[in-house]
Amino acid sequence: MKLIRPEEKYLDSYTEAVREELQNSPDTAHMFNEPSQILQKARDYESGVGLKPGRVRATYLWLIENGRFIGEISVRHELTPELLRYGGHIGYAVRWAERGKGYGTKMLALILDFCRSELGLERVLITCDDDNAASAGVIENNGGVLENKVINELPEGTVLTRRYWIEL
Ligand SMILES: CC(C)(COP(=O)(O)OP(=O)(O)OC[C@H]1O[C@@H](n2cnc3c(N)ncnc32)[C@H](O)[C@@H]1OP(=O)(O)O)[C@@H](O)C(=O)NCCC(=O)NCCS
Repeated sequence: MKLIRPEEKYLDSYTEAVREELQNSPDTAHMFNEPSQILQKARDYESGVGLKPGRVRATYLWLIENGRFIGEISVRHELTPELLRYGGHIGYAVRWAERGKGYGTKMLALILDFCRSELGLERVLITCDDDNAASAGVIENNGGVLENKVINELPEGTVLTRRYWIEL
């Protein structure tokens, strides 16, 4: 199992995972990126090229096992006032067929090493919807400490957001 930057080599597998998501869980399909754009998007976000206003640099990483795409995780290099309320440093999704097997927990553990060693972060903020038990479990398995819950008004509606910090 390895956490790597997105590579052409695994794009077919990524595309298959996005299709799998659309078929089984259309509500969370937006958690993955458009396969035709992810390689360029990842490069641009990492280097900070052409970022829209209010966007910060970010690194996208893929969890690969036996040559197969398992999950995607990204870390924003800094927080904005908006990310402090909703979004935090890190976002992730595990492909539908592989959920509930510990991959989310492992993927977050691996990116925490990257945050410490490559980005020099001392702590990271991770947020999740209050009713997303699996995401809360991933965060708590990695030592997340709940600071509070805040109400966010999003275009798609009102959500209660849990805000966790992990000390690195
Ligand atoms: C959130 C997500 C990444 C979790 O990945 P995962 O690989 O299924 O997570 P894990 O198997 O490591 O489970 C982590 C913990 O969550 C809890 N959990 C897992 N699946 C659960 C479920 N279906 N219901 C309730 N709790 C669950 C458990 O406490 C588990 O820890 P444990 O097995 O040690 O008890 C995955 O569900 C996903 O991709 N969801 C859609 C995208 C998303 O919601 N991303 C997060 C946005 S904040």
